[in-house]
Amino acid sequence: MALVVGGAQGIGKAIAVRLADEGARVVIGDMDRRMLAQTGREMAGQGLEVRTVVCDVRKPRQVERMVAGIIRLEKKIDVLMYVAGVGREAPFTETDERLWDWTMDTNLKGAYRVARAVVPHMIKRRHGKLIFMASTNSWDAEAKLAPYNVSKAGVFLLAKTLARELGPRGIRSNAIGPGLIRTRLSRPMLNDPEFMRKYEHLIPAGRIGEPEDIAGPAAFLASSDADYVNGVLLFVDGGQLA
Ligand SMILES: NC(=O)c1ccc[n+]([C@@H]2O[C@H](COP(=O)([O-])OP(=O)(O)OC[C@H]3O[C@@H](n4cnc5c(N)ncnc54)[C@H](O)[C@@H]3O)[C@@H](O)[C@H]2O)c1
Repeated sequence: MALVVGGAQGIGKAIAVRLADEGARVVIGDMDRRMLAQTGREMAGQGLEVRTVVCDVRKPRQVERMVAGIIRLEKKIDVLMYVAGVGREAPFTETDERLWDWTMDTNLKGAYRVARAVVPHMIKRRHGKLIFMASTNSWDAEAKLAPYNVSKAGVFLLAKTLARELGPRGIRSNAIGPGLIRTRLSRPMLNDPEFMRKYEHLIPAGRIGEPEDIAGPAAFLASSDADYVNGVLLFVDGGQLA
């Protein structure tokens, strides 16, 4: 049973589709009611089993309710994919506390909140895989993205901390660091010809990533093939950080 938080579209959706296609029971949690319903319909149309839950990870009670509901119905959560994330470019001197708090609350505190609700159930069964969506920005600072960069560095350290602390209890915790992937989130960058001219040269694979490029590595980290993988940040960036 896999919970994909932030799976209504983009990378999370590709992961949800992949996991369901591989036979996992999948629940998608997301705050975007419309996209959630659309993705649920699309997946059902492809014969893929999925359940959807509206949940804003910035709301502790909604997170608790989502996890409690899944446990009631499914009895367990084997895999948590924490994919929900936001970001907005702004020169440092134009950032404000609202941007900082929104980014941190969604990307980092949201990851903490969901993991905090899920992990006790994994500990009970001495079994579970935590996969957090970090970024190349967890490692490589990008100008004009201070809150985003810091949130993603935090997500990686959260994954590592849980790897150390929960490893002895049968749980594995890892992060994925996508490069530039074609989604709604990256649209402003993809639509900026000057940015793209510079950026494409930085990717040895010679192309921008697609959400499906992340789904395979995510499915691997969720699988028993990754039982001895713990505490890594797996970059999936076409070699951008090589
Ligand atoms: N697209 C990229 O280039 C890229 C690169 C590196 C990392 N990432 C990370 O991958 C993850 C997915 O990004 P994406 O590109 O697919 O973006 P996206 O905007 O297509 O999807 C993000 C999803 O998260 C959901 N979400 C946002 N805030 C939420 C909240 N408060 N509660 C619940 N759900 C919420 C959105 O509704 C959306 O469905 C993010 O964490 C992002 O930081 C993306």
